[in-house]
Amino acid sequence: MYDELMCRIENLGVVPVVVIKDASKAVPLAKAILKGGINAIEVTFRTDAAEESMKLIHQTIPEMILGAGTVITIDQAKKAVDAGAQFIVSPGLDSDIVQWCKENEVPVIPGVCTASEVQKGVKMGLKALKFFPAEASGGVNMIKNLCGPFPQVKFMTTGGISSSNLAEYAACEHVLAAGGSWMVKSNLIEAENWDEITRLCSDAIMRAQGFELIHFGINTNSIDDAKTAASRFEAFGMESKTGNSSTFMDKTIELMHSQFRGVHGHIGYKCFNVERSLEYLSVHGFTPAKDTIKLDEKGRIKVVYLNEEVEGFAIHLVRA
Ligand code: 3PG
Repeated sequence: MYDELMCRIENLGVVPVVVIKDASKAVPLAKAILKGGINAIEVTFRTDAAEESMKLIHQTIPEMILGAGTVITIDQAKKAVDAGAQFIVSPGLDSDIVQWCKENEVPVIPGVCTASEVQKGVKMGLKALKFFPAEASGGVNMIKNLCGPFPQVKFMTTGGISSSNLAEYAACEHVLAAGGSWMVKSNLIEAENWDEITRLCSDAIMRAQGFELIHFGINTNSIDDAKTAASRFEAFGMESKTGNSSTFMDKTIELMHSQFRGVHGHIGYKCFNVERSLEYLSVHGFTPAKDTIKLDEKGRIKVVYLNEEVEGFAIHLVRA
């Protein structure tokens, strides 16, 4: 359960951390987040309305991955689980809470920000830790340093993340997901500005992909036809580099040596995490062509084509 949940959170990449003062706002808030493409929410125990809010979200929107944040007592952890929370997040590393969660098979992500704390978390058998407060503790640079001795750990990062620095975290392979309140600010919740929350959530989920168009692929009938085409592009000052199955022009045009995928060719997009982007794109009607998957040395998807073409062009994703 722990691994499955962490995988779902990693494939999402962004978790809104909310402070709800009035439980009647919990469901419209969760719906606004879901409409923005994020099916997870961490409700913090910073208000008396937290427990009731979790209950309402769990009952009304069961597809939402529901976490309880700012859990600092075992009693809160119990209340959260009874209210439907699927995982527990603490600002710090409390061995009693971790122990209770382990005994009750509840996924837990305790907070750490030093090597000693990471070491303690690892000793407790945890693979996911919260890096908090992320920006004040050194951000992505600190995470990369911490992952030298602890490569098995992934971090849920929160504290000081916003739309302007989200991509740095989302691009980091050691980051499970970036969490925070920037898309669910209290003033927006109080004003019931659900449209703005939806907009900020869809902006966040898009930034977490890191999509970048990297090349166009053009199908040709043979390596000789590709050479002829290459000479055309050379007239524009592009340099060709011939490989086994294609010839690249300055890395931006790929002349295929055959009628490859796509009626005319393909478009290559780079992204931070292919598994995450496949999850995101599934909502937009795209599916992976499983026979095209290539894995990297860590077993992650490096390249995959999508089954759906756009006007005769196939699309493939490449891990950045
Ligand atoms: C948390 O509880 O994880 C943080 O308070 C969220 O941090 P932020 O408000 O800076 O996003």
